[in-house]
Amino acid sequence: SRDIRSQLLEINKLAAVYYFHQLRGQNGSTAMNYLKKRELGDETIQRFGLGYSSMYSDDLYRYIKSKGYKDDILKESGLFTYGDGKVTDKFWNRVMFPIMDMNNRVIGFGGRVMGDGKPKYLNSPETKLFDKSRNLYGLNIARTSRKPNIIICEGYMDVISLHQAGFNQAVASLGTALTSGQASLMKRYTDQVLITYDSDGAGVKAALRAIPILKEAGLTTKVINMKPYKDPDEFIKGLGAEAFQERIDKAQNSFMYEISAMEQNYDLTDPDSKTRFFNEVAGRIVGFEEELERNNYIEAVADKYMVSMDALKAMVGNYGNRVG
Ligand code: GTP
Ligand code: MN
Ligand code: MN
Ligand code: MN
Ligand code: MN
Repeated sequence: SRDIRSQLLEINKLAAVYYFHQLRGQNGSTAMNYLKKRELGDETIQRFGLGYSSMYSDDLYRYIKSKGYKDDILKESGLFTYGDGKVTDKFWNRVMFPIMDMNNRVIGFGGRVMGDGKPKYLNSPETKLFDKSRNLYGLNIARTSRKPNIIICEGYMDVISLHQAGFNQAVASLGTALTSGQASLMKRYTDQVLITYDSDGAGVKAALRAIPILKEAGLTTKVINMKPYKDPDEFIKGLGAEAFQERIDKAQNSFMYEISAMEQNYDLTDPDSKTRFFNEVAGRIVGFEEELERNNYIEAVADKYMVSMDALKAMVGNYGNRVG
C-alpha cells in the first residue's frame, strides 16, 4: 500500500478543497457572512484557504470515500468520528481554517463555531502528519516575509487579521503552549520574536512561559501589549495598522516585561516588600553571564523604579553570598 503520510496529505487536501467550495456554495452563505462580519476581505479568505464544514453530518466522509480511500486510512486522518457502526464528520457547521506545513501542504484543520457554541474552536487531533509542537499557523507565509521579526500571537484570527493589515510575519501556535520545537523553527527565519498574546491573564501567563523558551532558542524576545484591546485582531479593528506598528516599535524588552509581572506580587509602597522585590530582581540579574548585560539591566531597572544604581549593583553583587 502507498505511503501513509502521502495518503493523509491527499485526504487533507481533498477536505480543504471540499470545505473551500462549501463556503462558496449556497450552503456557505452564513459562514461567508460571518467572515465578512469579522472584516475579512475576499483576498484574505482566498489566501488562507478558509472554508466551511456543512450541516450534514457525513458529507465529507461520503465524498472522500467516493475517491476510493479505505476506512483504515480515513481513521488516521482525524477528520472523522468512528462510532458503533456509524461514521460522522468531525467538523460540523464550522468555519474551517486549514493548517499548512512550511511547504504549503494541508496537515490539519481548526474549525470555529459561528455563534457562542462550545467548543469555540475544534482542532484536528495529532496524526502521523500533524505534530502540533513542530508547526506554527501562518509560518508557510511568514517565512517568506521580509520583516526583521516574527510576531507570535494566540489565534488563527489574530494571524489572519495581522496579515490582512500588512503584518505578514505573524504566526500562532496551534492552541497549545509554545514549544521549543516551534522556537527553533522560528529561529531558522529570524533572530527576533515579538510576543503579542491576549491581554487577559491567560495571555500574560502564556507570555511568561514563552519568554524562556524563545531565549533558549537564541531569539531576542520582546512583548507587545494589546491593551486596551483583547487581542491583535481586535486591536487592528479598533486602532488600525499604524497604531499596531507603533506598538511594535515600542515593544517591551522581555526581561523588563518579566520584572513588571513580578512586581504584581509585591507592594512597592511597603519598604520591606519593596526590598524583597528588588532582591528577587537581583536574583534574576545574577543569572546573566555577561557583566555588560548585568550592568545594562541594573541600569534599566534602576531607571524604571527610580532607585540608586549603586545600591542595586551591590544587591546583585552580594546576591550569591547571602546567608540563609
Ligand atoms: P476569536 O474569538 O475567533 O477571535 O478567537 P481567538 O483566537 O481570539 O480565541 P482565543 O483567544 O479564545 O483562543 C486563541 C486560540 O486558542 C484559538 O485560535 C484556538 O487555536 C485556541 N482555542 C480557543 N478556544 C479553544 C477551544 O475551545 N478548544 C480548543 N481546542 N482550542 C481553542
Ligand atoms: Mn479561549
Ligand atoms: Mn485567548
Ligand atoms: Mn483571543
Ligand atoms: Mn479574537
